[in-house]
Amino acid sequence: MGTGVLKRYKDLLPITPSTPIFSLGEGETPLITAPRLAEKIGCKELYFKFEGCNPTGSFKDRGMVVAVAKAMEEGSKRIICASTGNTSASAAAYGAYCGLESWVVVPKGNIAMGKLAQALMYGTRVIAIEGNFDEALSIVRALVKSSPITLVNSVNPYRIEGQKTAAFEIVDELGKAPDMLCIPVGNAGNITAYWRGFVQYCKLGKSGSTPMMLGFEAAGAAPIVEGRVIESPQTVASAIRIGNPASWQGAVQARDESGGIIDSVTDEEILESYHTLASDVGVFGEPASAASLAGLFKLARGGTMDLSSKSVVCVVTGMGLKDPDTALKTRADIIETPAELEAVRNALGL
Ligand code: F0G
Repeated sequence: MGTGVLKRYKDLLPITPSTPIFSLGEGETPLITAPRLAEKIGCKELYFKFEGCNPTGSFKDRGMVVAVAKAMEEGSKRIICASTGNTSASAAAYGAYCGLESWVVVPKGNIAMGKLAQALMYGTRVIAIEGNFDEALSIVRALVKSSPITLVNSVNPYRIEGQKTAAFEIVDELGKAPDMLCIPVGNAGNITAYWRGFVQYCKLGKSGSTPMMLGFEAAGAAPIVEGRVIESPQTVASAIRIGNPASWQGAVQARDESGGIIDSVTDEEILESYHTLASDVGVFGEPASAASLAGLFKLARGGTMDLSSKSVVCVVTGMGLKDPDTALKTRADIIETPAELEAVRNALGL
């Protein structure tokens, strides 16, 4: 254990004898059970797959380790990505580990502070464009056509391959697939990857079923739900502020083949679940990560699906510490007192 995704799932990944095997400790993230919240929602079992426990604090590390290993195998010296923050942190870290030059292109002013700090600390070159993620992605896609740089966004198939390992872990731990998987949807690579993982495990006979895939976009950035490209996506969940997802088809396929849904949740619903997850379960995810729980709440409220016999896994895609601004903007109830026993006693109402 503690060996990383490449070693642990070697036989289920596109690894050859010449693929370098290394790890920053990605994968094997906790599956946290939440019985009190399950009761409140009305489902049989509820778990949170806390991907914030990956080395750079998001699920991206699972895919990045495979993409960077393959880039090394192919002799690449440089990697590049567009990002709302987490992909850039991950690319920068794995690039640093492997001694590759890394570049990231991010939407100026719309990336959480912690993610920017990570990219800078890992020594990547950060280019902030006056535009959104979709524009950044089309720029880097064009760049790699004419320059010898490896693109490590999830359009790189090795990213999806690595990310499917989270589905393997869930089945390995539960002993079967859950009935439902709730997951935030941005560029739609992760829902595509989980579905691939569940289907592969089922075909291998490691699970008897696959879950219903429930993907959730932010309401101001919901191209799949609305069936059209959103030119100027808006949401407090900056990680999923995406109007033209690269893996759109993959998400639709996951939804349709699993008999699931892709729906949207408002910023208000996202923030409410962001707080609930932290204060009722002790899991501090980032705002985008709370879209999965917000979606489950919405489903439960809607009453169209009987959840009472269902086991549900919500994916918490990234660590809340990455975005202290949103936390402090929405939770500011600090009581200030003089440094005196009585003052503190009074403040506590004792
Ligand atoms: N949650 C978090 C925390 C993310 O960072 C992302 C995507 C998603 C969910 C959505 O996953 O794109 O596979 O549908 N972040 C990308 C990035 C876009 O650049 O870091 P998806």
